[in-house]
Amino acid sequence: MIDTLRFITCGSVDDGKSTLIGRLLFDTKNILDDQLVALEKDSRKYGTQGEDLDLALLVDGLHAEREQGITIDVAYRFFSTEHRHFIVADTPGHEQYTRNMATGASTADLAVILIDARKGVLTQTCRHSRIVSMMGIKHIVLAINKMDLVNYDEIKVNSILDIYKNFAQELKFTSIYAIPMSALTGENISEKSVLMPWYNGVSLLKHLSTINPHDVIDNTNFIMPVQWVNRPNSDFRGICGRIASGKVDTGETVSIHPSGIEATIKSIYNGFDQVKSAALNDSITLTFDKEIDIGRGDFISSSAESIESANQFSSKFIWLSSDTFIPGKSYILKLACKEVTAVITKIKYREDINSGMHLTANKLELNDIATIEFRTSESIAFKPYLVNKRLGSFILIDKVSFETVGVGMINFALRRSQNIYKQKLEISKSTRANLKNQTPKCIWLTGHSGSGKSTIANLLEKQLYLSGRHTYILDGDNIRLGLNKDLGFTETDRIENIRRVAEVAKLMTDAGLIVIVSFISPFKNERKMARNLFSKKEFIEVFVDTPIEECERRDVKGLYAKARSGQLKNFTGIDSLYERPISPEVHLITKTSDPTSCVDQILKAMENS
Ligand code: ADX
Repeated sequence: MIDTLRFITCGSVDDGKSTLIGRLLFDTKNILDDQLVALEKDSRKYGTQGEDLDLALLVDGLHAEREQGITIDVAYRFFSTEHRHFIVADTPGHEQYTRNMATGASTADLAVILIDARKGVLTQTCRHSRIVSMMGIKHIVLAINKMDLVNYDEIKVNSILDIYKNFAQELKFTSIYAIPMSALTGENISEKSVLMPWYNGVSLLKHLSTINPHDVIDNTNFIMPVQWVNRPNSDFRGICGRIASGKVDTGETVSIHPSGIEATIKSIYNGFDQVKSAALNDSITLTFDKEIDIGRGDFISSSAESIESANQFSSKFIWLSSDTFIPGKSYILKLACKEVTAVITKIKYREDINSGMHLTANKLELNDIATIEFRTSESIAFKPYLVNKRLGSFILIDKVSFETVGVGMINFALRRSQNIYKQKLEISKSTRANLKNQTPKCIWLTGHSGSGKSTIANLLEKQLYLSGRHTYILDGDNIRLGLNKDLGFTETDRIENIRRVAEVAKLMTDAGLIVIVSFISPFKNERKMARNLFSKKEFIEVFVDTPIEECERRDVKGLYAKARSGQLKNFTGIDSLYERPISPEVHLITKTSDPTSCVDQILKAMENS
């Protein structure tokens, strides 16, 4: 079976990138007859002389579309020779398209980096090389183009290669193969050129047809992320996924991650056919010798494979959104088939992609590349990106807009997450709660400043106290005087404020208490994050719904007046967002309910939960 080589071309229009791709398609006869007729017509229209075809027109549709403001991430082109199939990722070279180049490079085995022989190694050559290196590409073809314009000069080529090799040392490529060429006239593209007898290498097409780009990284052991558990009827339970490494045989003992459970493979299906074994990239269904606890996103691997699971990581990261990125917000992180909540805790440094310099940063803009640290809500199985691209890369998704806002490549797990183990305690939550003769609860009050949260929280605690309950109030203002006195009111700080208080509330319920949280808690994602720390019946969200105009009219602390006069920034409801709860357990409309009746409604919800 002939294999497929995926490569990316990096360069700008001026370097002759489109002409090069057009030339490859033309020389390998991968152009349809009608395309050829159109090409002849267009070449005449755009002023190409005589019989010459302007091959760049074959692929320049992409540029035309871009000029119209249509966004195209990557244009993929396909061609074949008798030796191989090829998939070329064509992406624009300008800095504003870094993310497109990263996308194209993420699945490529090799990069063709174009250099104009007259101009030599430019800043953009270095940027392109850094991006492809970051995306794990190990093989480079340095296409030194436009040799016809420098008299096929050997010295020029040698000097470009020296400069490039010197620069590229830090990027640790496995191979750098320099080919002097002219895409326009076809020199050294599919045939070796007679005009450069001093060149002892092979043509571009020959090199692409013969190189073995698959490095000897150890990907021999079986690993498959679970995509779906298929239960068409009560007799059959199949685990479906696509093999990301190695091969698998019937009868093999495998491990499930992160649980660590072992099981033996009873059968393997490839489509509807039962097969004895399956290999890399096959999409298969497995059945096991016993019922095991397994779900979407888990990894199955051969027992010999060591798979790490962790919840804190260091990774390379590209910010893809036009909104500014600030650490601290929580996102959906998708790695292979697993989706978890993740928070980027730190930007270690931003990289100047042209110079490679590490710069300090506390925010990222579109196309910025950085090394970051992040934490996930639960441990996830992974492989470092350089070992396995599919199992080491992730995307970040905004929880509200579902926009993909970032892409990352895991470097390694941070040791601190691995060396911490949950201690088993002998006195349990229920033992503590039984002693207090109560069911622990978290009553979470959310609403604008001045909405009446504290009044209701106080009254509720008094009622509970009188009926012999053990309680505690976590109040926004009070906690900000102590535990959270390092936090202000930016979005990032508010997120951290809620994270900490939610964790404290969880500890308090663990201690057997009924805890009343009274925080503005303006963002729905963070309220959801808090809710997810508790069991379903334990968490009662109470929306203290007082219109902002009424809160402002009361203005007990005089803060609304300050906010209106510009003395207080980021004030909720004035210049900072409040996201109303959609389906709280209790919705208190304070315009029509007095505090006592509000407390009754909460007590009723507590009884019913
Ligand atoms: S939260 O948004 O992070 O949940 P939190 O409940 O802790 O807020 O604190 C809110 C209290 O801080 C308000 O009741 C008010 O007294 C005070 N405060 C001071 N500055 C602000 C501000 N910019 N926005 C909202 N509340 C503020």
